[in-house]
Amino acid sequence: MVFYFTATGNSLYAARQLDANVMSIPQVMRRSCLRRFADEAIGVVYPIFGHRPPELVQRFLREVELDTPYLYIVPTYGRRPGTAVEIVRDICRSAGKSPAYIRTLLMADNYLPAFDMDEERGIDKHVDEQLAAIKADVAARRRFTEPVMDSERKAHAEFLRYEASLPEGRLPGLVYATDSCIGCGVCARVCPGGCIRIEDGRAHFDYTNCQGCLACAHACTQKAIALTVPEPNPGARYRNSHVTIQDIVYANNQLR
Ligand SMILES: Cc1cc2nc3c(=O)[nH]c(=O)nc-3n(C[C@H](O)[C@H](O)[C@H](O)COP(=O)(O)O)c2cc1C
Repeated sequence: MVFYFTATGNSLYAARQLDANVMSIPQVMRRSCLRRFADEAIGVVYPIFGHRPPELVQRFLREVELDTPYLYIVPTYGRRPGTAVEIVRDICRSAGKSPAYIRTLLMADNYLPAFDMDEERGIDKHVDEQLAAIKADVAARRRFTEPVMDSERKAHAEFLRYEASLPEGRLPGLVYATDSCIGCGVCARVCPGGCIRIEDGRAHFDYTNCQGCLACAHACTQKAIALTVPEPNPGARYRNSHVTIQDIVYANNQLR
């Protein structure tokens, strides 16, 4: 069994390669009755956001009991993992969980303020080779925690300084609907936080539960969800080529 969080499909694609039985973390978290799972091996796959797991994944790791002799964790990322491995290990430990295996997976970087998605899509990051290695490790029940490189530790310290300089210690709501919004509601259905409602024919955001995942901006058919910060290519959006928009809706929809 593998639990996943995804905004643009990378982590779902990875989860599917690792196990046929995949379960969406946002869907588990909206049903308070599902708080214990047991299996021979349990995986958790999610995108790194500022070196951390998304808030919903952190809550999942803290609140949900995972009864398994082999807990493995695969954070996906695009450029800099920072200290992601140690951060998730510490979250697990504080929740009484001991991951047997933590290894990051380099994929396309979907962070729109920093990257042009048309360029990202074209970079071969050897995802299937990395996945084959992780799959073999998991099959062999290998115990391993990826070491954090000094350069990544420095990058994380720098990131923390930057974060501390932001008002309220975090980026404000990053997204808004432009006049091109036609109120189709796709953004509302791919939002894992249930933050978007359609009113008067356009999308409105309540950032209270916003995960900052950018699923809404990437999924908008009109490219009508813009960022409040500059981006290298506002016309380029991303979805993992193995994953459909229906898959993302199934994973994240909080409206049903
Ligand atoms: C808000 C946000 C923050 C991110 N922070 C990082 C980061 O710190 N380091 C990194 O390498 N990638 C970062 N990324 C890129 C994602 O971790 C990466 O593209 C991931 O594979 C996306 O997975 P998904 O398609 O399952 O959502 C960030 C993406 C977003 C949207």
